[in-house]
Amino acid sequence: MGKAIAIDGPSASGKSSVSKGVAAALGFIYVDSGALYRGVTWQAIRKGVDTKNAAAVVESMHNAEWDFFVQEGAAVFSVDGDVPVQELREKDVREAVADVAAVPEVRRFVVENLQSLENFGSLVMEGRDIGTVVFPDSPYKFYLDADPEERAMRRYRELVAAGEDEKAHEVMDSLKKRDQIDATRKADPLKVAPGAQVIDSTSMGLDEVIQSVIDVVKGAL
Ligand code: CDP
Ligand code: CDP
Repeated sequence: MGKAIAIDGPSASGKSSVSKGVAAALGFIYVDSGALYRGVTWQAIRKGVDTKNAAAVVESMHNAEWDFFVQEGAAVFSVDGDVPVQELREKDVREAVADVAAVPEVRRFVVENLQSLENFGSLVMEGRDIGTVVFPDSPYKFYLDADPEERAMRRYRELVAAGEDEKAHEVMDSLKKRDQIDATRKADPLKVAPGAQVIDSTSMGLDEVIQSVIDVVKGAL
């Protein structure tokens, strides 16, 4: 069985960038668990399912055909034969995903599939509940954090760079709303896992954060 490095934290705390950097340095498979919650959301939206209707979302999720594989060092999934990537970042998905991810049956489905990825090898998995629920026994758990203003600014810069016409205060509002839903939902809320190392990256560069994770993991190996 492979190892699993768990990287949790709120939106724009640096989970994706840090996890990809750590996975590349250690030769582990990178897994974006949020992509699967976004995938469940996306397949519902494209079938015209109301994402506020939990039962309908769950039904369309179970009726879809899911497949998992590894491509260029990252775990990827297909749903009904399509591999959504850019689609998962679109606004309609972004706005509905926290509601979909709050449905217990959606979480059960996603968590089981994430756990089974260990069959592919050692993983670096980023998310909200990786250290608390998906791999609670992993000795390698990290909780990344940064001040909300800094996180909103990071997201804003990304959206502007991608040519999206967003306003800074709207990004801030949407980030705070999502933080709130993620931290207060009944099913697996975002919290620091027991034994997790907390890294506040408000004034840290990306490379610095990546190196400090690698140092901890190498020290423990
Ligand atoms: O990139 P960002 O942090 O904005 O979001 P993401 O990682 O793509 O996750 C999208 C949404 O999925 C989050 O806002 C959570 O509601 C949910 N999620 C979750 O509940 N548990 C996870 N392990 C990962 C994501
Ligand atoms: O995955 P998550 O939503 O937690 O964050 P991310 O997508 O990895 O990072 C959001 C943005 O912040 C990216 O553009 C990173 O390059 C940037 N970032 C940063 O400037 N400094 C850090 N220490 C971490 C991330």
